[in-house]
Amino acid sequence: MLQRSIQCTKQPSLPITLLSKQMPATTKTTSSVSRTKPAPGKKPIATVALFESIHQCGVDLLKAAGFRVMAEADAASTSQLAQVQATATLLGIRSRTQLKDNFFHNCERLEAIGCFCIGTNQVDLGAARSKGVAVFNAPHSNTRSVAELVLGEMIMLLRRIPVTNRAMHSGQWHKNAEQRHEIRGKTLGIVGYGNIGSQLSVLAESLGMRVIFFDPVTKLALGNAQAVKTLRQLLVQSDVISLHVPETQSTRMMIGEERLHQCKQGAVLINAARGTVVDIEALCRALDSGHIGGAALDVFPQEPAGKAGKFSSPLSGRKNVILTSHIGGSTVEAQAAIGEEVAHKLIDYYLWGSSSGSVNLPQIALQQPATSVRLLHLHHNVPGVMSALNQIIADHNINISGSHLNTLGEVGYASVDIESRAGLQKLCQELLSLPETIRVRAVNR
Ligand code: NAI
Repeated sequence: MLQRSIQCTKQPSLPITLLSKQMPATTKTTSSVSRTKPAPGKKPIATVALFESIHQCGVDLLKAAGFRVMAEADAASTSQLAQVQATATLLGIRSRTQLKDNFFHNCERLEAIGCFCIGTNQVDLGAARSKGVAVFNAPHSNTRSVAELVLGEMIMLLRRIPVTNRAMHSGQWHKNAEQRHEIRGKTLGIVGYGNIGSQLSVLAESLGMRVIFFDPVTKLALGNAQAVKTLRQLLVQSDVISLHVPETQSTRMMIGEERLHQCKQGAVLINAARGTVVDIEALCRALDSGHIGGAALDVFPQEPAGKAGKFSSPLSGRKNVILTSHIGGSTVEAQAAIGEEVAHKLIDYYLWGSSSGSVNLPQIALQQPATSVRLLHLHHNVPGVMSALNQIIADHNINISGSHLNTLGEVGYASVDIESRAGLQKLCQELLSLPETIRVRAVNR
């Protein structure tokens, strides 16, 4: 099967010949990346520029899919970004490369950006959307890493290992069983039963814990976990409380003085969610009084900006407290998973237009086209665009075998599978000339 990609961008200053300048790139494709390895000596289908040491897993997947990969260890400089605009079809960054509005003024060749990380604040998503550049990230690839850290911390806190560890480092030998517990049979209360909370639920049950959770959204309870109706019901029952909520109005300082009093005597608290969720001063008082038996915090209201920054917290030096530097999701495995997830999203978007998981474009989950050509049309979301698009295709006497449309704010994304590639370039030019068109691309089987 052949894959041909014709792409063109709406830009009043650009001549329509852009179509022919950017076409065609040809390679062999099948439905899965592992089977898309181009034959030796095959021309690359397009160039991918990667910055900030993207994990080798991502690099390998992109190469196997037939892309030429240019990989740099550092964040992209201004001159490197200018080069990207001129040569790259896909761009991969992490959090240090800033892509502001002006970058998107000249990005006609660029189809998609992969943020090989969790956040996308470094990219002006609105500017990317208005130019029809898809942005992807990997929001959940480090879920398991966070859940495992929490699991380890539960065991450490219930055994009071931070206390013993500190004593040993200062030459003291405290051998006793006082206040040290197994986690088996204890109740874990999970606040926020999303990706991380539910993963933790499964792991904790497998170690013999009883799991309850509180989430304002109705969630499918995994295993034997049980939902409770209020946060109070969770706090009064739990030996371990673990927070896995996003930072919102409703979660800001959700664990303060009053909530800590509602906890069982000696319960331990873990926060690997967001720093603003816990009132640190109130937690210090609860730890000092012994009402809270220990705590593990990975996130803080104020975190140093980088390696050079200094960390200070009222929790420093307190007994049975584990402090970590927002490393819940930072593991080699998570980096590999992020590399894989984002590379897959870029490949699926470029090869057959699947925008599933895009953070700025309307999402359409697509498989490899069953018919010979798929038209991918990004347009301004105004009435009549689909009818104009269908009319142009009908005027070419071409049958449509399937179509999908989704919109997000001011942008619409249509995928139309057609049964003939006759006059394809002219057809694309006509679609491009629609006033509402932002970008047109055609991918062939
Ligand atoms: P998610 O979005 O999958 O789940 C969050 C859950 O919290 C949802 O089920 C939501 O309904 C629930 N929720 C929202 N408001 C709530 C409230 N007031 N009370 C109880 N539940 C509420 O998010 P995910 O991926 O599980 O992440 C959870 C947290 O972990 C986020 O804050 C995220 O930033 C943080 N995180 C921390 C990492 C680290 O390195 N420590 C790494 C990855 C995520």
